[in-house]
Amino acid sequence: MNPKSKSGLLEIFETKDGSNSLRNTISGDTYHSVHGAMGESQHVFVQNGLMKAFEQKTDLIKILELGFGTGLNALLCLKESIQQQRLVEYHSLEKYPVTEEIYSNLDFHNTAELREFHSEYLQLHTSPWDLGIRLRHHFSFTKYLIDFVDYRPSGQYDVIFHDAFAPDSHPEVWKEDFLTKCYQWLADDGFLITYCAKGSFKRALKDVGFVVESLPGPPGKREITRAFR
Ligand SMILES: C[S@@+](CC[C@H](N)C(=O)[O-])C[C@H]1O[C@@H](n2cnc3c(N)ncnc32)[C@H](O)[C@@H]1O
Repeated sequence: MNPKSKSGLLEIFETKDGSNSLRNTISGDTYHSVHGAMGESQHVFVQNGLMKAFEQKTDLIKILELGFGTGLNALLCLKESIQQQRLVEYHSLEKYPVTEEIYSNLDFHNTAELREFHSEYLQLHTSPWDLGIRLRHHFSFTKYLIDFVDYRPSGQYDVIFHDAFAPDSHPEVWKEDFLTKCYQWLADDGFLITYCAKGSFKRALKDVGFVVESLPGPPGKREITRAFR
């Protein structure tokens, strides 16, 4: 696929469902599935993450995202929380934020469903680090400029969106030590959701004490993983 635009090491490219994503030109890591960025985010993190949490709990849902990246997961959750009028508190960790040139060219607002949330999308990116903002009453958002392994949350979460780069690129966050932290960061009925279905990762989750389930994946991926505390 040809890049649409480039800033530093990152280039914007179009995935198979027509939505854009980013690729690191050195490592080759992509921020979403090449089979569809929007489809993957919606299926993994909204459908099997946020919506599951809405079913489990009627009050505020607290989410921790590992890897803010393009902000697509956050944007889709914001849309859902506003449309369903459900309170969501969303915390997102990121060590290497994208530049304004990148986020303003990703064009997620060029779809009928997301057009009306463009100004909120820009606010997700321009909001200050470590300081919570509230968007259209229902969605509270804080991003932290930090390495995943250095994060110390002040409370517990209902859901963790594990959206780091794949185990081959970023092995430590898919192993027992880090997953033990995730377990401790979750509330009693809390769960972790991710696109990753690698066997060694699922075994590590079980060793930590998670109850692991495999769910059907989005186009181009057989399975994804959800793990309950
Ligand atoms: C797969 S992408 C996340 C995609 C994102 N959730 C989205 O909706 O666009 C992984 C993200 O993790 C970030 N990252 C990589 N290593 C990190 C680390 N050690 N600590 C914090 N963030 C890291 C990357 O910069 C990238 O934004």
